[in-house]
Amino acid sequence: MNRLLKIVLYLVLIALVVIVGAITYVSTALPNIDAPKDLKVEVTPERVARGEYLANHVCACMDCHSTRDWNTFTAPPKPGTAGAGGEVFDRTMNFPGRFVSRNITPHGLGDWSDGEIYRAITQWREP
Ligand code: HEC
Repeated sequence: MNRLLKIVLYLVLIALVVIVGAITYVSTALPNIDAPKDLKVEVTPERVARGEYLANHVCACMDCHSTRDWNTFTAPPKPGTAGAGGEVFDRTMNFPGRFVSRNITPHGLGDWSDGEIYRAITQWREP
């Protein structure tokens, strides 16, 4: 076998090992996040009021997790859609793909544990 062919074969072999390694890593090791914490958040009127304040005024959760009226100045959330999701974030806004905000009302997250919700809003995860 001539020398050039051997070099090409070795390069192909190395490329294959790298590709298989990368695919194995992505499909088995990711998402690299911890299991949800085993926690139970006690619901009190004070916590609900604080959450409402944070979600609507500080963290802007409801700005994204609502359907917005883009024909009106400041694109306010449409009444009655708070938390229902549906806003699209895509390449036209320079996002690296198409993301749709999810329904985070009890209808959407009703079967999530407190630990799962805590994890979703405090840790990054792979799609
Ligand atoms: C900049 C817009 C934006 C803001 C602000 C935002 N979110 Fe999101 N959120 C999204 C998008 C888009 C997704 C869907 C991501 C995906 O599909 O990978 C999402 C996903 C989620 C999810 C996962 C739901 C599911 O069904 O997988 C939860 C829970 C969540 N957001 C809660 C919150 C909370 C609580 C806040 C405020 C602290 C918040 N988000 C603020 C855009 C936003």
